[in-house]
Amino acid sequence: MSMENLENIAKKIVDNGRGILAADESTNTIKKRFDSINVESNEKTRCNYRETLFSTNGVSKFISGVILFEETFFQKNSNGESLKEKLENINCYPGIKIDQGLEIFNEDSIETYTKGIETLDERLKPFVENGAKFTKWRAVINIGKNIPSNECLEKNSLLLAEYALISQNNKLLPIVEPEVIMDGEHDLDKCYEVTKKTLNQLFVSLKKKNVDLKGILLKPNMIVPGNKSDEKLNINKIAERTLECLIGSVPKEVPGIVFLSGGLSSINATMILNEINKLKSAPWKLSFSYGRALQEDALIAWGGKSENKNMVQKIFLHRAKMNSLACYGKWDKSLEENSQLMNK
Ligand code: 13P
Repeated sequence: MSMENLENIAKKIVDNGRGILAADESTNTIKKRFDSINVESNEKTRCNYRETLFSTNGVSKFISGVILFEETFFQKNSNGESLKEKLENINCYPGIKIDQGLEIFNEDSIETYTKGIETLDERLKPFVENGAKFTKWRAVINIGKNIPSNECLEKNSLLLAEYALISQNNKLLPIVEPEVIMDGEHDLDKCYEVTKKTLNQLFVSLKKKNVDLKGILLKPNMIVPGNKSDEKLNINKIAERTLECLIGSVPKEVPGIVFLSGGLSSINATMILNEINKLKSAPWKLSFSYGRALQEDALIAWGGKSENKNMVQKIFLHRAKMNSLACYGKWDKSLEENSQLMNK
């Protein structure tokens, strides 16, 4: 498969108002999600929950790809059916989270870098052989007193670039995720400043490593105030500053930008994406790669009980459809049949 095919995959993922479901929570993270609804996390419950989402009728109209954790990629349900094949059968690309989580960068601060680069090439082989179409690597950038440091930004951007290159060499589309974390007291301007610096550094590193920018998708955060700041969320301002930041830092060869939700509520994540897509046209498609913002309502409705399957799927399909409309700037709050959600 040539680079052109990676470009085609990238374009298909963000075409026709479709986006990505991030269902690649690590075993630790999914346990935290299940703890919040008092459900034990084990192989079977994780399989039941994820299979319920993946077998939602009609969802592939809105979801073009699903990021999987290794366990799910190779997982079979109690009838011996593969979860990954279920996705392939409905025309959804299976992808794989391939980083190995975070490591402390500097003992004196909370800065981190992402683990797993040394073994990446060999770890990709079983996923290539088993039909993965794309990969994801997440770098985490924290905002705080004297951080992020230039050294940490450079280290994370070089790792992202090296990851992207190795992934492309294995004919897999890399989803490059530099997440500037929402935690903290900082304001929106600070998030803008750090995200801009992060993205500028990232594209310097991607060019240095000769990564083909036509064969990647960028997965950034939106420009939001810290979750402990006094600044109120202003959806229009967030949309404007997010687009401004991206236009100033992301080359137009990149075919698509798929936002992470980063702790935003599902409704806010939809509203911001919608506002961004209502603004002047951008050189890249602007879509979603949401984890929590696509799943949180469905997870609560599930509550660990298979008899809730129909309700879970209805809620998940609705969320996916709302985000798809947001890709066209055509979402409207009158479409949210659950008014409770609007008040969250
Ligand atoms: P959230 O949308 O919950 O931030 O998850 C997206 C993701 O893939 C984080 O790596």
